[in-house]
Amino acid sequence: MSLEQRLSDGSAVYGVVGLGYVGLPLAVEMAKAGFKVIGMDISDGKTAQINAGRSYIPDVPTEALAELVGKGLIVATTDFASAAKCDAIVICVPTPLDEMKEPDTSYMESAARQITPYLQAGCLVTLESTTYPGTTEEIVQPILEASGRKVGTDLFLAFSPERVDPGNAKFQTKNTPKVVGGVTPDCTRVATAFYQTFLDSIVPVSSTRAAEMTKLLENIFRCVNIALMNELLQVSERMGINIWEVVDAAKTKPFGFMPFYPGPGLGGHCIPIDPFYLSWKARQFDMHTEFIELAGKTNEAMPYYVVKRLMEALNTHRKPLAGSRVLILGVAYKANIDDMRESPAIKIAELLLEAEADVVYHDPFVPVFMVGGRSVEHVELNEDTVGEADVVIVVTDHSNVDYNTVVRAARLILDTRNALKDFDGDKVVRL
Ligand SMILES: NC(=O)c1ccc[n+]([C@@H]2O[C@H](COP(=O)([O-])OP(=O)(O)OC[C@H]3O[C@@H](n4cnc5c(N)ncnc54)[C@H](O)[C@@H]3O)[C@@H](O)[C@H]2O)c1
Repeated sequence: MSLEQRLSDGSAVYGVVGLGYVGLPLAVEMAKAGFKVIGMDISDGKTAQINAGRSYIPDVPTEALAELVGKGLIVATTDFASAAKCDAIVICVPTPLDEMKEPDTSYMESAARQITPYLQAGCLVTLESTTYPGTTEEIVQPILEASGRKVGTDLFLAFSPERVDPGNAKFQTKNTPKVVGGVTPDCTRVATAFYQTFLDSIVPVSSTRAAEMTKLLENIFRCVNIALMNELLQVSERMGINIWEVVDAAKTKPFGFMPFYPGPGLGGHCIPIDPFYLSWKARQFDMHTEFIELAGKTNEAMPYYVVKRLMEALNTHRKPLAGSRVLILGVAYKANIDDMRESPAIKIAELLLEAEADVVYHDPFVPVFMVGGRSVEHVELNEDTVGEADVVIVVTDHSNVDYNTVVRAARLILDTRNALKDFDGDKVVRL
């Protein structure tokens, strides 16, 4: 039976390599559609948790995972020989930057190497890790073909960017359209047929490079627009204009405008990192992506700007930052999630600690907050802890925080997210 027949009769077995924020929700969608899924990861802690039916990803409820594991639809393993049982395998491993801000492709390379010896003839491999245009064909394809098989005839290979937005209540893995570009037209056709078995809508494009670039366009669009807002915030502040009010007014225009918001800096695994994958690749084509560089510079400067504003706010109370108690409210990189990766709160806390402030934090989603190898003290949020702080700084606007108590008990608040827009008074300073 061909792969396409096994996809349509439901007998195909799916593999997911890398069971993180992207891979685990994907495995769950595949299994919900009735397919048997083998999850592969180098972390035996993660595979053990999955096999025990326990989710470690907030978007995947433990009950849903436990049910699928109980039915035998999801199994997880650190043994990559299991790739031999799979008809289609999705790779979703990390794509960070190294210390020189250059792409670290080693996770993708090792994932491809681990599965290659076991791939069945006619198997489909798709890469979902965000990366620069050319990666699928320049890095993954040669590794797969080193086995003597040819992509397009003996194996199928495609790139399909993951667009998951952790914590988004409306759009999750299943109902977010999926862009797919194969190495050959046959690869695109097979990959489209595969994703159609468990996702709502598929958008085929002409090549792997077009699919890789689509994801980068989406993230660069956000990165540049956020940087623009961060610049306009600083100009507006000098002019005595409330930028948040301006964005709210501008977004009443029913066409040609999309709201973006300023803030304490970028966070997460995607927007601060992915644009630099393109900058790096562009240099091979004698091009400099100046918008990306400028946006990166502007966004990276935001934690410094936040600390400057905090010092100015304390100054109005005749207090130096050194020795002042600062309560950081929210440290995850965005609201209502537990993800700390690249969170601007880390840089802000580092700057505050360097300035010898007495730093504590509260975040209902993050029980441990490490800054430069040092653990920052977590405090409950109540009138005492808020009242003890010389200043409260809202870095992440989680919605399950009692802002009434904060405003009532605080002596001074710097709000970097406009979380307190409904509160007036001298003690609330907006970024
Ligand atoms: N998190 C997001 O919101 C998001 C959204 C869109 C795209 N992406 C992209 O998806 C990719 C994965 O991101 P993530 O957030 O799921 O990362 P993650 O760190 O949550 O998960 C990656 C998983 O891969 C595993 N892993 C690492 N090396 C491996 C290997 N050689 N073999 C098997 N498993 C390995 C890790 O143990 C981990 O469980 C990245 O390229 C990221 O840019 C992430």
